[in-house]
Amino acid sequence: MISSILETIGNTPLLTIPNSNKADEGQVLFKYERYNPGGSIKDRAALHLIEEAEKRGLLEPGGTIIESSSGNFGISLAMIGAAKGYHVIVLVDPKTTSANLALLKCFGAEVIVVTEQDDCGSYHKTRISLANQLAKEIKNSYRPDQCFNLQNSEAHYKSTAREIMEQCSSNLSTFITAVSTGGQLGGISKYLKTFAPGVQVIGVDAVGSVIFGGESDSYRIPGIGLGWTPVNLNIENIDRTYKITDEQAFLTARAFARHEGILMGPSSGACALVALKVAQQLGPEERIVCMISDGGDRYIQTLFNDEWLEQQGFRKTVDIETIREMALQLKPWSISPSSCANYRADLTATLEVPHSTLQMNLELRTQSYTNKKSSIYMD
Ligand SMILES: Cc1ncc(COP(=O)(O)O)c(C=O)c1O
Repeated sequence: MISSILETIGNTPLLTIPNSNKADEGQVLFKYERYNPGGSIKDRAALHLIEEAEKRGLLEPGGTIIESSSGNFGISLAMIGAAKGYHVIVLVDPKTTSANLALLKCFGAEVIVVTEQDDCGSYHKTRISLANQLAKEIKNSYRPDQCFNLQNSEAHYKSTAREIMEQCSSNLSTFITAVSTGGQLGGISKYLKTFAPGVQVIGVDAVGSVIFGGESDSYRIPGIGLGWTPVNLNIENIDRTYKITDEQAFLTARAFARHEGILMGPSSGACALVALKVAQQLGPEERIVCMISDGGDRYIQTLFNDEWLEQQGFRKTVDIETIREMALQLKPWSISPSSCANYRADLTATLEVPHSTLQMNLELRTQSYTNKKSSIYMD
């Protein structure tokens, strides 16, 4: 018997993709995070942050959780708030799908849509700044602050990365995931570089995002990208990065629904395309784990809506051979990501990151000096 829905977070399956992956190339394994109860990988970080806040007395019974999220992290918090009896306020932006908005509301969250763009052409800074302001005004409130809280990557170090190694420690050659707050890529890369340093770690970003440098521009892939390099990501642990266009991400996600029966969102489409590229460069004894961070059903009105795609000027469908060829043509954005780092130390002050977050980060960082064996995230 399971006593709370929250106990079902994690332990997601690894899937092969036999219709798209040839037998004589590297074996692609999708880590399918849709099976988390909130429907995405974000359940893992959200639960970790809330449980840590409870332990530290930063969140008391009946309190309010305030977060900036384009959807998935907010949905996870809304579900956790409903299960644990907290009020949840989520600041989203116009890119958030109507399906995500409906999910937030069905868990009882209060939703604020931020429409003012920041100087990077995105909404991250305006959303975060308003969330911090609200946290100051609302009593007994807690800001998980996924962008600046190092517990975000700690969550993936402790759960996702360990799970991947338990499921696939032999012949793991390459790990691929998308990046926004850097929680997944930061935590998992830290684990791999400590315990399996031979594994190549690839970060996938959107064309238009500047996590790995370059020119900022608007893009349509939800859940991916940022206007700076997030603190949760130690860029030294990343071996290669790719930037994927909106159309490439959407076409790939649609192709996997039709050719493998696997629903995924656009950020996962972007990663899956890179996985197909790497597979074509490796032999069958090598394995590639690719994060599929959420399912496609929450993008029914965008990614899987032909009219919406036409309005964006994207092609609707291409066959899997064309996707494989598109993958082959991809060129890395960077093979020395540390030279592209775009950290912005000034943002903690400008966006008024809460003192409690900075204090927790200091603790995590301090532990890294005392624990020489590996990392700031050891138990
Ligand atoms: C669907 C999806 N993919 C990838 C990411 C990126 O993950 P992270 O924020 O841990 O870098 C997110 C984050 O919101 C997401 O929602």
